[in-house]
Amino acid sequence: MDDLREKYLGLISDAADEATVEDLRVQALGKKGEISLKMRELGKMDPEERKTAGPALNALKEEVNSAIMARKTAFADAALEERLKTEWLDITLPSRPERRGTIHPISQVWEEVTAIFADMGFSVAEGPQIETDWYNFDALNIPGHHPARAEMDTFYMHRAEGDERPPHVLRTHTSPVQIRSMEKMGAPLRVICPGRVYRADYDQTHTPMFHQVEGLAVDTEISMANLKWCLEEFVKAFFEVDDVELRFRASHFPFTEPSAEVDIRCSWDKGQLKVGEGDDWLEILGSGMVHPKVLAAGGIDAEKYQGFAFGVGIDRIAMLKYGIPDLRAFFDSDLRWLRHYGFSSLDQPGLVGGLSR
Ligand code: DAH
Repeated sequence: MDDLREKYLGLISDAADEATVEDLRVQALGKKGEISLKMRELGKMDPEERKTAGPALNALKEEVNSAIMARKTAFADAALEERLKTEWLDITLPSRPERRGTIHPISQVWEEVTAIFADMGFSVAEGPQIETDWYNFDALNIPGHHPARAEMDTFYMHRAEGDERPPHVLRTHTSPVQIRSMEKMGAPLRVICPGRVYRADYDQTHTPMFHQVEGLAVDTEISMANLKWCLEEFVKAFFEVDDVELRFRASHFPFTEPSAEVDIRCSWDKGQLKVGEGDDWLEILGSGMVHPKVLAAGGIDAEKYQGFAFGVGIDRIAMLKYGIPDLRAFFDSDLRWLRHYGFSSLDQPGLVGGLSR
């Protein structure tokens, strides 16, 4: 046994590579290996002899086996070491500027709007993009026969025959989040709800999916004056101008009474929009005082509380602020377009550091 030990330990430590070690393993410990055969002889020994030979042989087997394992690990480590020497990467090199990603103008404007209203004490609420027709229409005072349902070019979800669930639609506006927020948080309440909305429409200023941000404030002494102030603050901050004139134009929405569309004073000089000066007016959003039926649908006592609400097209104000002529380009994923109109991923919009740089 001492001869076997010396022989194999010597061979193992002299082995030049992993394959040689494997050959040695087969030679010593394989089915017909030298040590394995010795172990088979144990059966033929008398019990006394077996008592000493058995444990000794087992110890030998263990010793040779662990020498083999250790040597194999050493070869594997050396091979890895060798590979790492050729596959290294200099992480101190500057990044490749041409590969840099940008923030999409819609994400940018979404963040800008959120920053402005957060500063006025509004929190952010979200709702599902697949809505029941109750949240999208009925709760907003748009009953089944109302023309607004047809005007919205609604996408209806497929329903199997006999499906008992309420009809679902892809939400046509963010207004249903008003109802969900009132249900969830009650009054008083101040939320904005940015999100994706869907309508079957496609041309230079319409895409089947686009973005809106809804605003809702509910309290016991809310008036149109509060709405006007909030929107003025918003427009000044968003277009980054010191002053701007707003014009409220009487309008109609089923979910507000009274309703107003809001225009801002502007000029178009050689196709370039300037906000806050000039003789033109630009329509930017719809708004009004929340209809009592809508407050009631949200579970709020309309005798005690009032609210104002507004809805803005994120894509629309992004086009205006950043001079983007075609809405469809937003969703083409053309890298040249994204590089031209995109924003640095390191600049977080904020009222202190600046909204857009
Ligand atoms: N939901 C309207 C739309 O999609 C926009 C809107 C108008 C929202 C007036 C409002 C509002 O909250 O008060 O066209």
